Amino acid sequence: MDTEIGETQDTMGFLIKAILVGAVGVAIWFVFKKPTPKPIPHFDPEEWWGPKDLKGKQDNSIRPFSVKFDAEMIKDLRSRILNRRKFTPPLEGVAFEYGFNTKQIDGWLSYWAEEYNFSERETFLNQFPHYKTYIQGLDIHFIRVKPQVPQNVEIVPLLLMHGWPGSVREFYEAIPLLTRQQPGYNFAFEVIVPSIPGYGFSQGAVRPGLGAPQVSVIFKNLMNRLGYDKFYIQGGDWGAIIASTMATIFPEVILGHHSNMLTTHNSKSTLKMFIGAYFPSFVMPEHLVDRLYPLSSLFAYVMEEFGYMHLQATKPDTIGIPLTDSPAGLLAYILEKFSTWTKRSHKFKEDGGLEFRFTKDQLLDNLMIYWSTNCITTSMRFYAENFNKKASSYGLSDITTPVPTWALQAKDEIFYQPPSLIKTKFTNLINNTVLDDGGHFLAFELPKIFTEDVFKAVKAFKEFHEKNKKTEL
Ligand SMILES: *[C@@H]1O[C@H](CO)[C@@H](O)[C@H](O)[C@H]1NC(C)=O
Ligand SMILES: *[C@@H]1O[C@H](CO)[C@@H](O)[C@H](O)[C@H]1NC(C)=O
Repeated sequence: MDTEIGETQDTMGFLIKAILVGAVGVAIWFVFKKPTPKPIPHFDPEEWWGPKDLKGKQDNSIRPFSVKFDAEMIKDLRSRILNRRKFTPPLEGVAFEYGFNTKQIDGWLSYWAEEYNFSERETFLNQFPHYKTYIQGLDIHFIRVKPQVPQNVEIVPLLLMHGWPGSVREFYEAIPLLTRQQPGYNFAFEVIVPSIPGYGFSQGAVRPGLGAPQVSVIFKNLMNRLGYDKFYIQGGDWGAIIASTMATIFPEVILGHHSNMLTTHNSKSTLKMFIGAYFPSFVMPEHLVDRLYPLSSLFAYVMEEFGYMHLQATKPDTIGIPLTDSPAGLLAYILEKFSTWTKRSHKFKEDGGLEFRFTKDQLLDNLMIYWSTNCITTSMRFYAENFNKKASSYGLSDITTPVPTWALQAKDEIFYQPPSLIKTKFTNLINNTVLDDGGHFLAFELPKIFTEDVFKAVKAFKEFHEKNKKTEL
């Protein structure tokens, strides 16, 4: 009897080992085999997102626009702030772990109502030329700044894309730096900074379906209308997802892709991520291991911080009602993200570390873009449009792109991936800059470091194109 059990165990042991070796073999083959190019899905370049009866009736002109904080809106905002109810005090010893600390909110609200200088901030926001133009049924807003540089300095078009809960405001500190010639570079950027449809001054769709690929089409049409057939792109947060999508579906159009939240989520990168959980040095440099591993802390982080995403992807209109109705609600909901996403440890600070790198005015400017345009609901619907069966059926994350790509990776960015994972999709990852500082809203938080990196990246993209041109000859 004993020997029989022993033999059975041996056989079982052998079988399990054989299966494991086989599985690892298949996994390794899968990771290393040459990618089979997948076809890029076609997206209708004229898909209509506005009211049907306006189709064919909108003009294509580019109209100057300026931000207006009108007296009626300010009066209403002040009266809502003034007439707020008393908020429940935080629990003893709690900072931002339960969300926005209510001991902090009165200070912010009285600053907003009494000290934030609406007319001065309006002038500030209008320091750059703003425009609107109708594209596929939607009035699309953008800032466009042309550099003032000598004739011999090349002007390079760059599309800058913000995310949630940000806005074009995130780029205000970087725009003057990007549009100026920097030492060591013989080019400067003409920047085009659109509001995502449904965000700030850009209209939202009237029917479902406007996700990242559809916004990519709109932004490409915008650039074409401004006279650019090919251009560079940069993005963070949703802007990073839209940029990744544009590089994937318009590889002939995008000259280079700079991202401060570059991630890939395909079967190969996922497999590598899991292999790395046991053999980290196989997928990434030793000194960065704690940015991704252990996976248990990544999953814990997602569980603790991503409730908003699930909510917005499923019931954006419900959460949209209180946030539309209450400035206090909108402030708490949005600023909480500027606290934790700038630095994870800010959660343990009673003031949320909000003024660590941002001033009250900077954060309220961004908030005003949401409040004054009443866009919080349409901005949150973007989650629902990107997390659904149809959006994942495009399989864009499994399609590789040859567009030269550069990742800027801040210390406290929400996700970090090493180049070995990123290259499963971005086959021409030219380089990645790993920062020991900074968080999610990088252009806003560290505009100089951000700008320097964009210049470095675009110089490398230009060299990449030069080299490829030469090898083609
Ligand atoms: C707001 O700013 C403007 C322009 O700088 C200034 O003239 C005005 O006095 C300020 N208002 C308040 C209430 O401080
Ligand atoms: C990539 O970055 C590394 C580290 O910063 C640097 O040494 C290298 O020269 C860079 N390569 C390119 C092509 O910029």
